[in-house]
Amino acid sequence: MMFDEFSIKSLIRPVPDFPKPGVVFRDITPLFQSPRALRLVADSFIQRYVESDFSHIAAMDARGFLIGSIIAYELNKPLILFRKQGKLPADVLAESYQTEYGEALLEVHADSLCEGDSVLIFDDLIATGGTLLAAARLVRRMGATVHEAAAIIDLPELGGSQKLHDSGIPTFCLTAFA
Ligand code: PRP
Ligand code: ADE
Ligand code: MG
Repeated sequence: MMFDEFSIKSLIRPVPDFPKPGVVFRDITPLFQSPRALRLVADSFIQRYVESDFSHIAAMDARGFLIGSIIAYELNKPLILFRKQGKLPADVLAESYQTEYGEALLEVHADSLCEGDSVLIFDDLIATGGTLLAAARLVRRMGATVHEAAAIIDLPELGGSQKLHDSGIPTFCLTAFA
């Protein structure tokens, strides 16, 4: 199946003023309700990364888990769960961050990556970049490197993909909303 950005975009629903006034929330639930669209999205990432030389996939709690785990399964790569505060049971490293509408703490098990590992960091959407930049700091604190940051959606006006680029992290997104 050919990737059709227009049909993917039409399955991402804009919800004005959620969760705060002034935010246009980009709702991916319609996309996940379409088996064809889900397959197109997952296959696009798999096609991009099938020949790539990285060791691990890091998926962001919660929406990043959905496609992140499909990519890890298809590419036979270890999947590292980066979670919101208080969800991981063993020793963690933590980084605080801000997003478009809140502040949070991102955690990862301290023994999940080593020096020399190269990590694809994955989420559903890049807004301010707070989440993926916190993930990149955690990856680097374990001595590993970030191969690339990937997401379904970029919101370039919020500056996150530019900030990732400025931190030396290439980004790849399937679509963008200005
Ligand atoms: C959303 C989205 C990204 C993040 C993007 O997650 O899924 O993870 O915000 O924003 P940023 O680039 O400014 O960091 P959120 O924490 O709101 O909720 P989730 O648990 O549903 O993924
Ligand atoms: N995360 C941060 N900003 C968002 C937005 N506008 N829509 C959906 N998820 C988001
Ligand atoms: Mg999220």
